[in-house]
Parts: sequence; C-alpha cells; structure tokens
Amino acid sequence: MKNISVIGSGTMGNGIAHVFAQHSYLVNLIDINQIALDKAIQTITKNLDRQVAKGTLTEEQKSATLKNITRHTSIEDGVKTADLIVEAATENIDLKLKIFRELDEFSPTEAILASNTSSISITQIAAITGRGDKVIGMHFMNPVPVMKLVEVIRGYQTSDETTQKIMSLSESLEKIPVEVNDYPGFVANRILMPMINEAIYTLYEGVAGVYEIDTVMKLGMAHPMGPLQLADFIGLDVCLAILKVLNTGFGNPKYAPCPLLVNMVAAGYKGAKTGEGFYKYT
Ligand code: CAA
Repeated sequence: MKNISVIGSGTMGNGIAHVFAQHSYLVNLIDINQIALDKAIQTITKNLDRQVAKGTLTEEQKSATLKNITRHTSIEDGVKTADLIVEAATENIDLKLKIFRELDEFSPTEAILASNTSSISITQIAAITGRGDKVIGMHFMNPVPVMKLVEVIRGYQTSDETTQKIMSLSESLEKIPVEVNDYPGFVANRILMPMINEAIYTLYEGVAGVYEIDTVMKLGMAHPMGPLQLADFIGLDVCLAILKVLNTGFGNPKYAPCPLLVNMVAAGYKGAKTGEGFYKYT
C-alpha cells in the first residue's frame, strides 16, 4: 500500500495525514473546505517543527513529509488512486454513510475503506458499501503523532486479510495496533467514557472541584491528564455523542450522560476548541 487518502482535515485527519506522510506514504488529504486544508498544513508544519526542535526529525525529513501531502476538495479526485482511505470526518452517522457511499463509488474496487470513528458501528458503515470485507475501523488517538495506539476494529464482515493488512500497516507507522470487535464504544471509549462521565458526576454532586478531581487522577493514578481536562481536550460534544452511543447501544442506564455534561454542551461550552469547558483556554 502506497497511496493513502485521508478524508477530513480536522485534528484527527491532519494528525493521520502527518503520520502517513512522515512514513513515506503518498497522502491525498481531502476536505470540502480549502481554508481548512490550508490550516491543516499549517498545523502539520507546526507539529513537524516540534519534532525537528527535539531532534527526532531532520529538516530534510520535514520537507519530504510535507511534499508527500497533496490537498483536494473533491472526494472523487482524491480517492481515485487510493490503496487505503481513512475517513476522519465529523462523528455523525448520516455524514459517514454519505461519505462511504461515495468512497465505494469512486475508489478502486480493491481499496480498503477505514474509518477513524470513535464509536459509530463499523458494521453499519460497511453495510452501505458493496465491499463489507474491506471496511474496517482504524481508530487513532489524539495527538496522533504522539500516541502509540491504533485500535483496529473488525466489523461483522471484515475479512482476516483486511485486518492483517491494517495491523501490518499500523506497525509500519511505528504504532502498536490492537485488534478488537465492533461493539458500542469498542474498547477505548467503552472504558474511557464511563470514567470521564463519573468524574463529571463527581463534580456535579459536589464531591470535589475540578482541580481536586483532576489532581487525584493525575497524581494518584499517574494519568497524564485528569479526566476533566481530558474531556475538554477530546471535546465535550464528542464525549456526549459517544456516551449516547454506549447508552443506546447497550440499553443500559449506567452509560447515561451526566446532566451537567448535557447542559454544558447545550450552552456551547465544548472544551478547548470553544475556549471553555471545565477550564478556560486563551
Ligand atoms: N504533534 C507532535 N508532537 C506533539 C503533539 C503533536 N500534536 N502534541 C504534543 N507533542 C509532543 C511534544 O512535543 C512533547 O514531546 P517531548 O516530550 O518529546 O518533548 C510531548 O508530545 C508532550 O507534549 P507537551 O510537553 O506539550 O505536553 P504534555 O507533556 O502535557 O503532553 C499530551 C501532552 C501528549 C497530550 C499528554 O498530556 C497526554 O498524553 N494526554 C493524554 C492524551 C490522551 O489520553 N489521548 C487520547 C484521547 S482519546 C482519543 O483520542 C480517542 C477518542 O476516541 C476520544
């Protein structure tokens, strides 16, 4: 596999494009919005500069990485030579189904179609295409250039061959792939989101303040970020959407989102990206 198309140039999409391009893959980065594409290249350049400053990347490798990325505003143009497409669009089922229908139509029939979804069913996405055996989840973690994990999610129809190819490909990116099956939240978010939700309940019930909750988890459990800071980092709207998938998918009230989370999202306090969540960002 050499030609990789990445759909969506937001936080996850630009990180995924960065990592593939750095490992000598030819990346077609696709977004409907040219301004978003240009901003993604600026972000990738900034993150490559951090690596150069640290001495883990040379200036030549930085230039080669940027040269490996081509920008497109049309899916049809951006996927026609793809061996693999990684979709990293907004977490919205209708949008993802629309994109996968187009990927199935415009990409080579042999191409593997992967989704970076954090919780939407791979099986349901695969069913909209005519190649369910070649549809798989490739869930990267934020920040993509730093985090080692790729959660590889097998849908109901995903073949052994597709899974094996994606496991090997993830290793070629110096990541550690872990294979899991397609059930709500997969593994990462099935475990992470109840912890974040419980931290929000702890705040909501007045057991402790934001600083205290995060400090207990940071210093007591050696987590790099406390759960409330992590929720801000992920996006409170994203946390809410994932909890809803868990709640509906299992029909179990233990996943019901805390009313404080629901209120904060409704009020537009979505975390770092909106300037305020549990913390303020300037
Ligand atoms: N690109 C490249 N390098 C980056 C980077 C980026 N976007 N962001 C941070 N870094 C590098 C820094 O240069 C730094 O490198 P060195 O240590 O080698 O100097 C290192 O990462 C640490 O960064 P900082 O010193 O700026 O800050 P930090 O020590 O606070 O670490 C962090 C930042 C890596 C984000 C750390 O706080 C962390 O690991 N947090 C938890 C992240 C996490 O849990 N991610 C998963 C979220 S869940 C998800 O993504 C999936 C989902 O479905 C919701």
